Amino acid sequence: MAPLVWLITGTSSGFGLAFVYSILAHGDKAIATARTLSKIKHLQDSGAEIMQLDVTAPQLELDEKIKQAIAFYGHVDVLINNAGYMQTGNWEDLSHEDLLAIFNTNVFGPINLTRSILPHFREQQAGTLVFIGSSAAWQGNPGISAYNGTKNALQGMVEGLQQEVLPFGIKTLLVEAGSFRTSLLDPRNVNMASAKFEAYEEYNTCLKGVIKSLNGTQVGDTPKGVKFIVDAVKGEGWAEGKEVPFRLILGADGLKTVMDKAKEVITLCEKWGDAFSSTDL
Ligand SMILES: NC(=O)c1ccc[n+]([C@@H]2O[C@H](COP(=O)([O-])OP(=O)(O)OC[C@H]3O[C@@H](n4cnc5c(N)ncnc54)[C@H](OP(=O)(O)O)[C@@H]3O)[C@@H](O)[C@H]2O)c1
Repeated sequence: MAPLVWLITGTSSGFGLAFVYSILAHGDKAIATARTLSKIKHLQDSGAEIMQLDVTAPQLELDEKIKQAIAFYGHVDVLINNAGYMQTGNWEDLSHEDLLAIFNTNVFGPINLTRSILPHFREQQAGTLVFIGSSAAWQGNPGISAYNGTKNALQGMVEGLQQEVLPFGIKTLLVEAGSFRTSLLDPRNVNMASAKFEAYEEYNTCLKGVIKSLNGTQVGDTPKGVKFIVDAVKGEGWAEGKEVPFRLILGADGLKTVMDKAKEVITLCEKWGDAFSSTDL
């Protein structure tokens, strides 16, 4: 099988960085991107091509970035929409700007970049789109509803996309990961809404403590998670000879979150189904 060409967003740390190493270890080609190029210069020594890419850039700029990426090897086989960050804060402290910023990175970034690459994938009648979602899409947690909201929105958009592009030979994978040990919860990366109301002071202090204690103690093994996804795309390892599902739920904690929500919804519908369906004409 010819080496695949992968384009990855947000490769300065965490999943993104692990993807680059895993892809190169598989003998494939990696085009690593980051919004600050100097952070990924070292990846050139490992054999990756590097490119500056901020996923919140305007559509025309993203179109140019895709052209630049295609120029490295003449085509791209896999796009990994990975870049994202965590915003914390309760509803009253979160500003409209906080929410626009996180939706811009976590939702509109992947949507716009995918829009830029789809003509190329359609033309070659092949390609794989990978979206790094989260099991956080399945729940609402006090203090991280902004993050929950972005991953839930991504889930809804991607489910539709998967069916739209399948007839063109384009595969889509939605990864819904539990908590993995990356830099996501590093206090330098988490955007914490500034406290506006005294009433939430105690709550905000508690939230900061929770994030601090979760940072560095996540159960998910990042290189293992990334290898699982790379194998899913390549049909190797656990995925060899299998029909890989569209949704990949990673980690025991991620699985529990999704199963708990699924059970909760079934219980709700079974208990109240007659009442809920009594509104038909
Ligand atoms: N770790 C988990 O538990 C977990 C679970 C489920 C899903 N996820 C998702 O996994 C993805 C990767 O996060 P991670 O856990 O690996 O955290 P991470 O180590 O903090 O990596 C996040 C990456 O996203 C980049 N990024 C942020 N905003 C960007 C932008 N506007 N344009 C381009 N790059 C940008 C960061 O680059 P800079 O260096 O420039 O900031 C960094 O490289 C995210 O989408 C996250 O939501 C993580």
